[in-house]
Parts: sequence; C-alpha cells; structure tokens
Amino acid sequence: MALLDVRAMRTGYEGIPVVFGIDLSVDEAEVVALLGANGAGKTSTLRAISGMIPVLDGDVTFDGASIAGRPAEDVARRGLVHVPEGRGIFPSLGVEETLRLAGAFGKVPKNELADRLDETYTTFPRLAERRSQQAGTLSGGEQQMLALARGLIWRPKLLMIDEMSQGLAPRIVAGLFEIVARFPEQGVSVLLVEQFVGRALEVAGRAYVLEKGEVTFAGPAAELANDDDFVKGSYLGDVDVERLPDSTRRRRDTVSAVEELAVHLPPALVRALYDRAEREGVAADELIRDAVAGRLEAPAKKSARTRKASASKATATKKASNSRRKKTATKKASTQAGRRRG
Ligand SMILES: Nc1ncnc2c1ncn2[C@@H]1O[C@H](COP(=O)(O)OP(=O)(O)OP(=O)(O)O)[C@@H](O)[C@H]1O
Ligand SMILES: [Mg+2]
Repeated sequence: MALLDVRAMRTGYEGIPVVFGIDLSVDEAEVVALLGANGAGKTSTLRAISGMIPVLDGDVTFDGASIAGRPAEDVARRGLVHVPEGRGIFPSLGVEETLRLAGAFGKVPKNELADRLDETYTTFPRLAERRSQQAGTLSGGEQQMLALARGLIWRPKLLMIDEMSQGLAPRIVAGLFEIVARFPEQGVSVLLVEQFVGRALEVAGRAYVLEKGEVTFAGPAAELANDDDFVKGSYLGDVDVERLPDSTRRRRDTVSAVEELAVHLPPALVRALYDRAEREGVAADELIRDAVAGRLEAPAKKSARTRKASASKATATKKASNSRRKKTATKKASTQAGRRRG
C-alpha cells in the first residue's frame, strides 16, 4: 500500500470545489512532482491533504490510516508535514530558536532534540553556520532551507513542499533540489509542487499534472520530461540552466538579478521573454526588467544585429541608470504583487 493514497478527493473553499475528485499516491522513499498552471489547484490539494482545508469528498489515507478531516496538527504529528508556499518564517526568531520551537510544537522529546538538531544541521550546514542569526536576515535560499529544516526536525515520513524555488535564483534552486533529491535516503518521501518543471522532473520518479482541478497526466517523470509539448507548453515556464548551451546559460543566469527583487512573473511571460531575447540576440534580463518597469516595446522589426549594436550602446548608459531602474522595478513589482494577492 502507498504511503499516501488520495482517492477521488474533492476539495475547495466555502463548499465550492476547486479540485474535482483526484487520485494521487506517494510511495515510501519516493519523490513525486505535482505540476500545473497557476490556479490549477496544486496548493489546494496540499492544503486538503494536510488538513488545512476540508476534504469535501473522497478519502486520504496516510501510513495506513484515513486522515481526511483530521486536524492539521494531528496530520503533521503522524509524519505528514506541509512546507507551505511563502516559507512562513518568523523574522525576529533566530535560526536555532525557530528549529527548537518547531521541535516543541511537533512534540519532539526533549532528550532527542539535540540529535534532531544535529541531523538537521548535517543536512543544511549553512544553517549550522548561522544558528544564532535572525531568520529575517537570512537570504531567500537560506530562509527556504530553514522552512525545510523546520519540517525535517519532526522526522516526517512525507514532506509536501509548495513552490520551494519561488523568487530564488536558478543557482540557489539547483542547490535546494540537490538536497531534496537526497531526502528519500533519510527515509523521507517528497511531494513536490514546482514551477521549475525541468528540475522537478529530474528529481522526481513520478509526476502528476493538474489542470483546472483535474489530473490530466499521471506517470513516470521521465515520460513527461521527454514530452516537449508539455515542457515547452504554454503555461509551464522553466529556467533549466544545466541543459542549455553555455552561451545561453550565461545569459539565463542573469535572471537572478531580477529574481532577487522577488518579482513573481507568470512563467509563460518569462519564457516568452527568453524566447524573444534569443530571437533578437539581446540579454533576457534586460527584456524582463523592461517588462517589469512597464516599458517593453513591441517586438522590434530591426534585425538581430541592429538590436545587438543598440544593446551594447545601451550598456554604457545602463550602469548610470541602474539604481533608478531598480527602484522603478521594485515599485512596479510590489504593485503587481498587491494586485496578484488582491
Ligand atoms: N482561500 C481561498 N479562497 C477561495 N478560493 C481560493 C482560495 N485559495 C485558492 N482559491 C482558488 O482555488 C483555485 C486553485 O488555487 P490554488 O492556489 O490551489 O492553485 P495553484 O495551482 O497552487 O496555483 P499557483 O501556481 O498560482 O500557486 C484558484 O481558482 C484559486 O482562486
Ligand atoms: Mg500554489
């Protein structure tokens, strides 16, 4: 029997379903990816499994027992831990304080806490170096490590991770994926919700695709990774740095400069901008910055050579105007974030 078995599960908000009778399972020592467009119902699926929103229909079995309708704390103490979108770190608490608090909340016996902390620091040496630092002053990647560590200290059987890579540079994301890929060796299965589709499919053994609250693909991750239409599909963006030729890789790495501003752009737009940058022979980060600042021109009819020339001319003046542009981008981004949440 699977470790997690979701059968014909319907869930939603205030009685209105957004996920319609899905089947999904995760075995022991397995990493499973749950993919899909914005609003497909990925987060809602995780919330229903972990008891944060009601299961309207169907059943959820974990480790041999039905957990549908069980309170979230009970589900977590059974070993099914949800690392939510947005990390939920308390900025004023220290790293170790955060972990100790999580231990206490998870009823980790006092005499085991030191071992659990050691275990956690072995998985995340960066956190060990920063054990007395305030969580709010950690980098985005380190905060994500802390969010994962807080879950791991419970020694869960299954960790459900929602959008671990959100707002992080590709280089940082790659490091996190390497760590997550080793969780099964520690006896922790993973259900991974991700926008970095290429990475997720490299780490996962199996994958599910959700569309409008229904499962439209369930099968081997490798099969999905080979499906070009899917990976390049209109709604799933990715920054699959490793697989690109060197010249492109360098260009795509520069996106980190933009991502450090924590701008969340629709993946389809980001990919369209990459495609356009490649077509026009200009740096993707410049196009993305222009898009964020609301001054992206319609695709130029100029030849790539002309654009390249004007791009290098622009580089000279770019440095001077960089700080001004950053401010504009941040302002726009926060307006957009406000709209997105509103
Ligand atoms: N608290 C809420 N109250 C009412 N509806 C909600 C709530 N949260 C999400 N929804 C709706 O449920 C649907 C699924 O949303 P969900 O957040 O599960 O999608 P998602 O696949 O995680 O998307 P994303 O990739 O943007 O995170 C959407 O139509 C969304 O508007
Ligand atoms: Mg979500």
